[in-house]
Amino acid sequence: MTRQILVTSALPYANGPIHIGHLVEYVQTDIWVRFQKLRGNRCIYICADDTHGTAIMIRAKKEGRSEEELIAAMSEEHQRDFAGFGVQFDHYGSTNSEENREVCTDFWKALRAAGLVVERSIEQLYDPEAETFLADRFVRGTCPHCKLENQAGDNCDNGHTYSPTELIDPKSTLSGATPILKDALHLFVQLEQLHEFLAQWVDQSGALQPETANYLKGQFLSDELRDWDISRPAPYFGFEIPDSPGNYWYVWFDAPIGYIASTKQWCDIHDEELSDWWQNKDCEVHHFIGKDITYFHTLFWPGMLQTAGYSLPTKVHIHGFLTVGGGLKMSKSVGTLISAETYLKYADPSFLRYFYATKLSPRVEDIDLGLEEFVEKVNSDLVGKVVNLASRVGKFASTTGLSPQYPDDGGLFAAGAAKGDEIAEAYESCDYARAMRLIMELADAANPFVEHAKPWEMKKDAERQDELRDVCTVALNLFRQLAIYLAPVLPKLADDCGKLLGDPIKSWDQSQTPIVGQPVNKFQRMMNRVQLEDLEKMIEDGKTESDAEEVVADAGAQYNDSDQPLKDEPLADEITIDDFAKVDLRVARVISAEHVPDANKLLKLTLSLGGSERRQVFAGIKAAYEPESLVGRLVVMVANLQPRKMRFGLSEGMVTASGPGGADVFILGVDEGAQPGQRVH
Ligand code: 2FM
Repeated sequence: MTRQILVTSALPYANGPIHIGHLVEYVQTDIWVRFQKLRGNRCIYICADDTHGTAIMIRAKKEGRSEEELIAAMSEEHQRDFAGFGVQFDHYGSTNSEENREVCTDFWKALRAAGLVVERSIEQLYDPEAETFLADRFVRGTCPHCKLENQAGDNCDNGHTYSPTELIDPKSTLSGATPILKDALHLFVQLEQLHEFLAQWVDQSGALQPETANYLKGQFLSDELRDWDISRPAPYFGFEIPDSPGNYWYVWFDAPIGYIASTKQWCDIHDEELSDWWQNKDCEVHHFIGKDITYFHTLFWPGMLQTAGYSLPTKVHIHGFLTVGGGLKMSKSVGTLISAETYLKYADPSFLRYFYATKLSPRVEDIDLGLEEFVEKVNSDLVGKVVNLASRVGKFASTTGLSPQYPDDGGLFAAGAAKGDEIAEAYESCDYARAMRLIMELADAANPFVEHAKPWEMKKDAERQDELRDVCTVALNLFRQLAIYLAPVLPKLADDCGKLLGDPIKSWDQSQTPIVGQPVNKFQRMMNRVQLEDLEKMIEDGKTESDAEEVVADAGAQYNDSDQPLKDEPLADEITIDDFAKVDLRVARVISAEHVPDANKLLKLTLSLGGSERRQVFAGIKAAYEPESLVGRLVVMVANLQPRKMRFGLSEGMVTASGPGGADVFILGVDEGAQPGQRVH
């Protein structure tokens, strides 16, 4: 039966360019949508730019243009980049649209009518020069606990957390002015009233991956749900709340509603009814998002949809982040924060699509991009196994054409056809890694056929031309079968295959029947091997991208506007050799490393100093390292630092590292020959 499916990816924030981290999600979604369409389902892929909020307002002001001009330029850039990677939306809108304002108003009325909205005055820091209230990230000052200077509004580099109003000597990062405390009215949604509904939906709808459901139950639903602050006072770039003049809907209110508004625009263009997509129990709604925005899509959003009478998501597919080179977060200074635009200068977009496909599973796992692995996969699988099948016979086949009947291939085509359902199931469940493995097994089985047949020898023998035609027919049909199975991932290859054989790939079922008795067009090269040197050049280029383009290095985490420029750090006061001798630096091995719930910057490390000597250390390196990548490494630690009681436990030392902070922190290591416990001189 044909399914009706609406699919979305998270709406990219209009404050920065698309980078390869974001592309994990858009490629993942695009593959799924293409797969559904190939299977004959009625499927539309809806997206839009997420355009509101303080970050846009500030950036527009800095750049001396209107918010509308800024978001129009970003939308064009985003759509160009997505198209460059073959990500094909059915509609790409903007949250700053009249349709969105209207749908937001409908949702708002429903929330009010359900008695979910309350109003409260809250005291907040206000920048009297910029004339705006300051979100935590726009305030810096001295930590009230450890007196560390120039710290963020809500936590310091030593792991203390506080409210921005507690900062000593706070300064606005917008103007440098000292903020004042000011009252402002805010509107809240009382999510707790929806607790029972949400608990049931999380537990029983089947819309969530099991790890996500457990996370929500453990972290949120086990407690009272906090009121959600849904408004921001002027000035704010967004929609003014119709019944609360001077207050605007917070960007996270109107962003997901943008999914519906963008669908509405598509409906208007195609003469369709919005209710047929968003208020129809027979239409599936699938959201693809990154793990950082789980909370918004699995608590607030279903709560809002339920209240306003729209369909709940059939499935929220959540993916992990992209790390580069063994669990490291992407970083501009290392050159791994590569924009879509830069990537396209150096490599074929199909390669990244395929590489991501080999890594993506239905689980919420980070995926790692290693350059050598990338080169190996692309060259060996795509060029060496798949395209090779066509290129080894392509130039002969344009002379021979295809045999009138499909020749005996030892059961290869039939075996490939029989795998179709299993491959389809893997795509359906977003287990692309499995789908790619199954397809490559078929490619492995097909290649020896051509190698043994040696068509290049047949070509020289006038009496073996029928045989040659049979070999070409088998090889090209096996190639075509692979191209059909790979079509969701490699649409360009599918197009090339369709052109070569004069039979466009449009349906999954084409994989079940070979084509025969027709001419073959002139063979054109389909893919070139990727060179490691090109990727190294890309990394170099990535380092020089302008500061304005720096974004948080998480796939999907795009709300970012407060990256601090590197400040020159003056040398500390001179010390004597005796002062230095007091610092006992030791080699230590990381025994375990884990995230600390609720800590923004810390990882909890257990270090071995040799024998049974263990130390627990909280290190502010979360943005730079995935915990797993640290286990087993040797590090240099300050072993005689007075233990410090932190909110999360006792920290018994410090791990040495360099770099300006954030994702750019590099742990100082020692040679593997060193022994834990040895003194560092
Ligand atoms: O995290 C982000 O980048 C947001 N712009 C995603 C919004 S998704 C949806 F809610 F619109």
